[in-house]
Amino acid sequence: MLMRGKTILLGVSGGIASYKAAALCSKLAQAGANVRVVMTESAAKFIAPLTFQALSRNDVLIDTFDEKDSSVISHIDAADRADLVVIAPATANIIGKLANGIADDMLSTTLLAVTSPILMAPAMNVHMYEHPAVQENIRRLRDRGVIFCEPGEGQLACGYVGKGRLAQPDEIYARIAALLHPERPLEGKRVLVTAGGTVERIDPVRYITNDSSGRMGYAIAEAAVRMGAVVTLISAPTALTPPQVAEWVPVTSAMEMFEAVMVRFADSDVVIKAAAVADYRPAVQAEQKIKKNEDTLTLTLQKNPDILQAIGERKTFQFIVGFAAETERVQQHAMEKLKRKNCDLIVANDVTQEGAGFGSATNIVSIFDRNGLVRSLPMMSKQEVANQLLEIVSSRLG
Ligand code: CTP
Repeated sequence: MLMRGKTILLGVSGGIASYKAAALCSKLAQAGANVRVVMTESAAKFIAPLTFQALSRNDVLIDTFDEKDSSVISHIDAADRADLVVIAPATANIIGKLANGIADDMLSTTLLAVTSPILMAPAMNVHMYEHPAVQENIRRLRDRGVIFCEPGEGQLACGYVGKGRLAQPDEIYARIAALLHPERPLEGKRVLVTAGGTVERIDPVRYITNDSSGRMGYAIAEAAVRMGAVVTLISAPTALTPPQVAEWVPVTSAMEMFEAVMVRFADSDVVIKAAAVADYRPAVQAEQKIKKNEDTLTLTLQKNPDILQAIGERKTFQFIVGFAAETERVQQHAMEKLKRKNCDLIVANDVTQEGAGFGSATNIVSIFDRNGLVRSLPMMSKQEVANQLLEIVSSRLG
């Protein structure tokens, strides 16, 4: 009940993404918020007001002149009561109206009366979003303190591929929680975690893998959720129960993990690569069980892509954390990996030490950045390592 006692005014303007506002409304109500929904008439053409009425358990406001309660003026009352205003989806039209002070319907009129913070989540065609008029309006609103939840890139309803897709309800929710509870340091950050040891098939019944249990990566994913992040956990096979993350992506091989990471990388703020990725896979995967005909059998192995290095090469704003499992000269190898793979931090452990590394419930790690050692942690639970690591990450995200 993170949002109990908070009143959130949810403004829904008219676009194909209006239906996603229903998921957001439901999430906010479930978190205990008192949600007051204000819709534009066009939004009501995309989704029935009754949906929002049922989800929020409040009347939905659409018409400025439909004054049901004679003791208040509804647009002023709705504005006064809000701890936070969220416009999702925000069309070019509502952005333009607020930027220019136009008040010609319930939502735009209410917005001019609001004194609480405003979060806008735009959604529209990519060319509309990039139009200088829309960009100018967004700049003006930003200058006045309006906060924006950037649209995502991808397939748009109009058929185009580009920037303009409404941010996911989970992400908008996380941004709202961050604005209401600033003490959660990763609130709204999109954190991608990989975990477990990849499995490289030889034939239908045999495979190559490693000793990774997945515990370190799962502990990081759970800690990031507690700190308010929107977490995607890409997991090689483990015996662990999937945690309550925004997205859980089970994969098997290094190649599958590579693809799952690559498609999500551009939209991530932080990537933490705790997975033990097999460096090689069988060059040929036999379709039938290999028979023991010969005295010797030679398996030819093919190098897997280095996922961490690939994202290091593509990095723009992302904060990247790598792991280094070493059996000797830990600092030297870790620093070499950090530079070669263009990471911001590397978490190194000497897997030969008792209480460290694969399978163990505890770990003993040293965390390095480009300038050398940041923190050397004594033996502690993987949960505590995760907390300390994420504190360092959040303090560096600015
Ligand atoms: N890693 C990766 N893709 C690979 C191999 C490793 O993304 N194909 C990542 C791991 O997830 C980890 C880091 O790289 O974050 C270091 O992994 P490690 O096995 O210690 O290093 P390698 O690069 O494989 O080097 P080496 O095996 O030579 O020590």
